Amino acid sequence: MTQDELKAAVADAAIHEITPGLEKDTVLGIGTGSTANLFIDRLGPLRDRFKGAVASSETSAKRLQSLGIEVFELNNVGTVPFYIDGADEVNAHLHMIKGGGAALTREKIVAACAERFICIADGSKRVDTLGDFPLPVEVIPMARSYVARELVKLGADPVYRPGVVTDNGNQIIDCYDFMIEDPITMEAKINAIVGVVTNGLFAARGADVLLLGKEGGVERSV
Ligand code: A5P
Repeated sequence: MTQDELKAAVADAAIHEITPGLEKDTVLGIGTGSTANLFIDRLGPLRDRFKGAVASSETSAKRLQSLGIEVFELNNVGTVPFYIDGADEVNAHLHMIKGGGAALTREKIVAACAERFICIADGSKRVDTLGDFPLPVEVIPMARSYVARELVKLGADPVYRPGVVTDNGNQIIDCYDFMIEDPITMEAKINAIVGVVTNGLFAARGADVLLLGKEGGVERSV
């Protein structure tokens, strides 16, 4: 199977996962990226069975709306029963690196408001130790150099992602050569640097369910 076929398989599995919980007043939390897009596409035909969605990016919001799914402001919704999103890397504890698409801050906010985070990913995303994928850090633009120097002190090789402006008007630094043995501690350390909006470690609040696409089928872990 190709990577795209594996992504499609987990998008299908996520539909099966959430369908029993759908009510007329359900508002879903929806992530960002190519795997989340496949999930959004499968939600379209179900749009009459739930109320709408909160999106973690402008791109996902537009895609949802194009399928006739109403998009709500998170502040007007409160909590969502499910947040469905992809990952750049995920470990056995369902800690993740996210933010390859620069949507990490809104993703983390919607995930924080979710009763269940369902991570959907093809098998290539499963790792023993997080960090092969460069860890994204969203920064306030004027703090970029300062934050980069502090990241060096933590052992990372920080590289500014040129030309990228997040939905929040900020910039992204990617941390290379940075294997992360203790994701919960590192997530907190990076977030404590002045000028950091958030980082792409989702460990303090990891996923609750992982649907991983493999050759033999979709593996479900909790
Ligand atoms: C977006 O900022 C990311 O967190 C994505 O969820 C992550 O990059 C996974 O993307 P793909 O589904 O495209 O691999």
